[in-house]
Amino acid sequence: MTAQLSKKSEAWSARFNEPVSDLVKRYTASVFFDKRLAKADIQGSLAHAEMLAAQGIISAADRAEIERGMAQISSEIEAGQFEWLLDLEDVHLNIEKRLTELVGDAGKRLHTGRSRNDQVATDIRLYVRSAIDDVVDLLAALRGALTDLAEKNADTIMPGFTHMQVAQPITFGHHMLAYVEMFGRDAERMADCRKRVNRLPLGAAALAGTTFPIDRERVAKTLGFDDVCHNSLDAVSDRDFAIEFTAAASLIMTHVSRMSEELVIWMSPRVGFIDIADRFCTGSSIMPQKKNPDVPELARGKTGRVYGHLMGLLTLMKGQPLAYNKDNQEDKEPLFDTVDTVVDTLRIFADMAGGISVKPEAMRAAALQGYATATDLADYLVKKGLPFRDAHEAVAHAVRACDDLKIDLSEMSLDQLRAYSALIDDDVFAVLTLEGSVAARDHVGGTAPNQVRKAIARVREQLAK
Ligand code: ARG
Repeated sequence: MTAQLSKKSEAWSARFNEPVSDLVKRYTASVFFDKRLAKADIQGSLAHAEMLAAQGIISAADRAEIERGMAQISSEIEAGQFEWLLDLEDVHLNIEKRLTELVGDAGKRLHTGRSRNDQVATDIRLYVRSAIDDVVDLLAALRGALTDLAEKNADTIMPGFTHMQVAQPITFGHHMLAYVEMFGRDAERMADCRKRVNRLPLGAAALAGTTFPIDRERVAKTLGFDDVCHNSLDAVSDRDFAIEFTAAASLIMTHVSRMSEELVIWMSPRVGFIDIADRFCTGSSIMPQKKNPDVPELARGKTGRVYGHLMGLLTLMKGQPLAYNKDNQEDKEPLFDTVDTVVDTLRIFADMAGGISVKPEAMRAAALQGYATATDLADYLVKKGLPFRDAHEAVAHAVRACDDLKIDLSEMSLDQLRAYSALIDDDVFAVLTLEGSVAARDHVGGTAPNQVRKAIARVREQLAK
């Protein structure tokens, strides 16, 4: 019986009387998705082995053998030659088994003083940390591309909207810089989240710590962690850092989705404010005239899956008693898909920003349609001494007249305008033009081209850091 049991492949099978069914094996295994953690797993194991040797827990010769074996495993994985076995459950056991095949007893000593529980927690943190670094770089690339677009359009006038109604004239550059701000906060959030990701769980072992004289600070330093996790139960069991990452990723997708919605509207022939380069669009199989903004539409759609992952991870965590439970294995697919979705989306958007061509005439015509300078006329009257509420009312009457006459405020004659307030003079036409309106909003955060250029300089300085 003992001989038969020892033939089983499971690392834990010596205690069991019967093997798991194939269905249970498939149900409990994670190797086909967690093999993505292989690089982090090897990195963590090498740091652990280095520490074990430094502490005299394993010999220097064993450590050298482990390094030799891991180097070979890394190249096998890179070459696509590594054989991943469902029977070996997960990435950790697959790699350990191969290590033992390659280097014998030294491989079997690697797991001294650790557990898969602190091992997997370490791997995920390494993985998320590197994902954060990628996302932060991509956000910078996207901000750079949007800033370029803003610079080209610092003077391009378009209608600004509230309630989807023409509100006041703005510049397209100013509009792009709004997204640059959003993506800037997203990068800050990621950087902040990284601080809490970057702590080392290894050393917590299964849940209570280990009886070996380990040096956790040493491992933390080797792996570039800022600190160790200070409670072993917490270290192996919480995935709040993954939730936090997914929440920050969800906000990135919120911003991407809002922008996508605008791009789709702007590209509609009804609006015609922009065109998006052909390489980001597709045609219709039935309607030959169609050019569809698929990329922004898909990005808007993919936002839903990232939100879903956030909800999934929150729910995964909420009922778990301390410490590690197998539930946690379910953290990986949502996390990986979040990383893939956000990374691909940001990469495409950074590229697509350069493929947006602006149609200033259409924007201008739209800005002239909705009495976008009505507020400017009211402000003008206030500056001449009229209380704002009275000015508001006078302009409302003027707008009604324009509506009847089918003309813009700027097209009214001085006499026509004076019918609504005797305070109106020749100088009114300077404020009723679109250019006059945007140029007048000349303070930090305002839409004046002058301010847009200052904002661009500020962003470029941030990006250069
Ligand atoms: N594949 C497991 C996971 O992702 C690794 C940890 C397993 N630990 C255990 N005690 N079964 O969470």
